[in-house]
Amino acid sequence: MASKLSSPLIPWLIFLTCSLIFLYSTLLPLYTPPSTIPFSPPCNLFKGQWITDPNHKPIYDDTCPFHRNSWNCLRNQRDNMGLINSWKWVPEKCELPQIDPSGFLGLMRNKRIGFVGDSLNENFLVSFLCVLRVADVGAKKWKRKGAWRGAYFPKFNVTVAYHRSVLLAKYEWQPKKSAGSNQDGLKGIYRVDVDIPADDWASITGFYDVLVFNTGHWWGYDKFPKETPLVFYKAGRPIVPPLQMLDGFKVVLESMVSYIEKEFPRKTLKFWRLQSPRHFYGGDWNQNGSCLFNEPLEEQQLDLWFDPSNNGVNKEARRLNHIIEEALQGTDIQLLDLTHLSEFRADAHPAVWLGKKDAVAVWGQDCMHWCLPGVPDTWVDILSQLIHYSISANACIRARYEELVTPYKHIATIVFLSGGCDVNVEKKMLHIVAIPIYRISEINIVDRMGSKILIMPF
Ligand SMILES: *[C@@H]1O[C@H](CO)[C@@H](O)[C@H](O)[C@H]1NC(C)=O
Ligand SMILES: *[C@@H]1O[C@H](CO)[C@@H](O)[C@H](O)[C@H]1NC(C)=O
Repeated sequence: MASKLSSPLIPWLIFLTCSLIFLYSTLLPLYTPPSTIPFSPPCNLFKGQWITDPNHKPIYDDTCPFHRNSWNCLRNQRDNMGLINSWKWVPEKCELPQIDPSGFLGLMRNKRIGFVGDSLNENFLVSFLCVLRVADVGAKKWKRKGAWRGAYFPKFNVTVAYHRSVLLAKYEWQPKKSAGSNQDGLKGIYRVDVDIPADDWASITGFYDVLVFNTGHWWGYDKFPKETPLVFYKAGRPIVPPLQMLDGFKVVLESMVSYIEKEFPRKTLKFWRLQSPRHFYGGDWNQNGSCLFNEPLEEQQLDLWFDPSNNGVNKEARRLNHIIEEALQGTDIQLLDLTHLSEFRADAHPAVWLGKKDAVAVWGQDCMHWCLPGVPDTWVDILSQLIHYSISANACIRARYEELVTPYKHIATIVFLSGGCDVNVEKKMLHIVAIPIYRISEINIVDRMGSKILIMPF
């Protein structure tokens, strides 16, 4: 009986096998197993050098309405502002053009960009707003959804805003309850709920098309000394044994990153900006540390200033970066590694020009934030390039993917382009990869900048 049934099947089976062999032999050379496929040639915008260029000029001045007084170095008549802004960042293997505000706003039409983090992200935002305003002087202040500050650009229907959240996780001050023994000097604690995002950005899921996160500059004992320490809670209970600050940092990062991965749509373009280095020389901020430099540091000075093994006052940036990079591994959040290029710029902080008489006596010099116009304008150039690149790369891959789904039902062909959608497809075709459709959701592709692009089935 079995032979009777199977006999008409045999020719079919042979045919099927042959077809499969043919299919595989055709596709095999094209097929790359789901893994990372790098674009070439690689261009890393984060590595390079500063070069003086007398033609390099900032595109806004001290009249930008979005300035924050203490960073408005032109108005505060900081020395060297011309010199500071004559330096141009030149990446190793490519050009970094200055942003074209009008072109960029056009690309972002009907979109929203959000920054979440501490004042270094606010410094970034202010630069961004002043740069973009050049293309839309009708820009208005904008504040909603827990945003600390921001602007709306009516000509392009673009919103750019900042949500202040210095630790990202929710934290609150809890004064000491009993007036009992005060020998330990404890005045109270800052309770940090490692698994709860701060209210300031808890309601923005799905609102922004591009997000730039940061945290790190508040994770130190000068912000939270032992009389008013951070105490970490999880699921409503204190974590035991209590975590030291850096371990708490790690746990908060992991939990915020997984919150972002879970709650924010895949299509939201996500960046994480690394630490902004400080440049206190001769002492820390509260020990008369100073940054009165007339030019950027030399490359060979950087390790001396910033390598943790040298134990200098500015060592924390690289240490924290290391922890952040670990926490972001395997996520779709792109690293915005602005640390290295900023490490050079000891010359570009507000220093003693803070716009207020007693500020230096009270707070010391500001060798942490940046003058505007200044270094953050270069951050803006880089971020806008990456946004542009990610948006057009994704759009092209999606477009090509739709177009090129092969006649073989279970295989998709994806064409990777080396540039934006406007490039000549024939010339710019770099890789063609055939991927079984059921595996498409797993595949990770690394673009030219080393950032991952995730391909989703339609
Ligand atoms: C402006 O952009 C928002 C999204 O950022 C969109 O919801 C809204 O429809 C746009 N308005 C117009 C008039 O296109
Ligand atoms: C900082 O400088 C002031 C004035 O020169 C001096 O009185 C003070 O002791 C210095 N502080 C430290 C920590 O060196």
